[in-house]
Amino acid sequence: MSADFTPGGLYARIVLRDLTETEARRALPCKWGQVADDVLPAWVAEMDYALAPAVADALAEAVAAGMTGYPDFALGGPLGEAYAGFARRHFEHDVDPAGVIPVVDVTAGVRLALDVLSEEAPVVMTLPGYPPLISIAEVTGRKRLDLEVDPDAGRAELDLDRLDRMLDPAGGGARTVLLTNPHNPWGRSFTRAELEGLRDVVVRRGARVISDEIHAPLVLPGSPRHTPYLSLEGTAEHAVAVVAASKAFNTAGLRCAQLVAADRITRDRIRAVPAARNDSWSPLGVVAATAAYTDGDPWLAALVQRLGEQRDLLTQLLDAHLPATRMRPLEATYLAWLDLRAYGVHDPAAQILERGRARLAPGHDYHPGLEGHVRLNIATSPERLAEIVRRMVVGLGV
Ligand SMILES: Cc1ncc(COP(=O)(O)O)c(C=O)c1O
Repeated sequence: MSADFTPGGLYARIVLRDLTETEARRALPCKWGQVADDVLPAWVAEMDYALAPAVADALAEAVAAGMTGYPDFALGGPLGEAYAGFARRHFEHDVDPAGVIPVVDVTAGVRLALDVLSEEAPVVMTLPGYPPLISIAEVTGRKRLDLEVDPDAGRAELDLDRLDRMLDPAGGGARTVLLTNPHNPWGRSFTRAELEGLRDVVVRRGARVISDEIHAPLVLPGSPRHTPYLSLEGTAEHAVAVVAASKAFNTAGLRCAQLVAADRITRDRIRAVPAARNDSWSPLGVVAATAAYTDGDPWLAALVQRLGEQRDLLTQLLDAHLPATRMRPLEATYLAWLDLRAYGVHDPAAQILERGRARLAPGHDYHPGLEGHVRLNIATSPERLAEIVRRMVVGLGV
């Protein structure tokens, strides 16, 4: 989507409001509630911004109307239409609304897809990766094969030759690839060519892809636009996507993500599951997602603009105060992946928390055994981001 950021233009008038610290502690009981009063949180993926007015208004209306019962369990409907409209406007991707199936959250959607669609065989996971997805292979009784990024590589890329060996029946024997697109914490918005390369390997090996696209609305200025995996030719039969408005609109607690199935057989297999497997999404989550997808574009444009500024600010702050840090180019998400090994601290997140009083996410949670890395959430105010970096300097003893 192209946005008008000229002074006085539509988006310049949209206010992205920073939460005060008191507001943030009340609004975000996980991110702010799980730290002591003197600690600044920059760990879990939630944003210190007030809810988008379009979403807040829709929720207030729904609560006022008493919409606190079960959701409408019929599939497709307004939520499917809303996501299809969003995908068309933002990604030029045509989605059949009937193939948009609510699930409680993205993690559950990935688990559902694995359970219902995938063979009882190893699963490929990209590392570093989102921790609950790291454990999902085991949770579903499968072996995990790790497709790692070399921490010394300049750019985080999918190693397709290794992937091919992992999918080789005479090699790793994996039958499913868990793709994260855009990638947390690699910060990558994969190009169409990269994804086509992945597709070609997967098709040759007759494997499946589950594409976690929760960060799709969060591609930052100057980066390759998001390419939905399902928008590539020849993917409908072997892939599903799991999408959500929750990361971009800060509504994770409302419990509603969407599984997108582009071919009829896949859709029917997912729809046929017993209720006990997939009946936990909430009607308020449906309301929030529908409002975000339908009326959230102006706020989202302001958000993405701000996150781009925060990324640039972080780059400057690190250059000035922690110049030995290696920050992966942040093309998408608000989660910067920082290599702090030059500072010689085994567990920098623990030391920054203890001595600097800022909570970052430890890199080893995303890549077991990896030392000296942290993930830093930049979705806050510029002032708070500067203070977090100051606390990192104190914590690292630089
Ligand atoms: C890549 C990725 N997938 C899934 C999730 C979690 O989504 P949910 O809370 O809907 O399970 C996150 C949360 O940050 C994430 O970064």
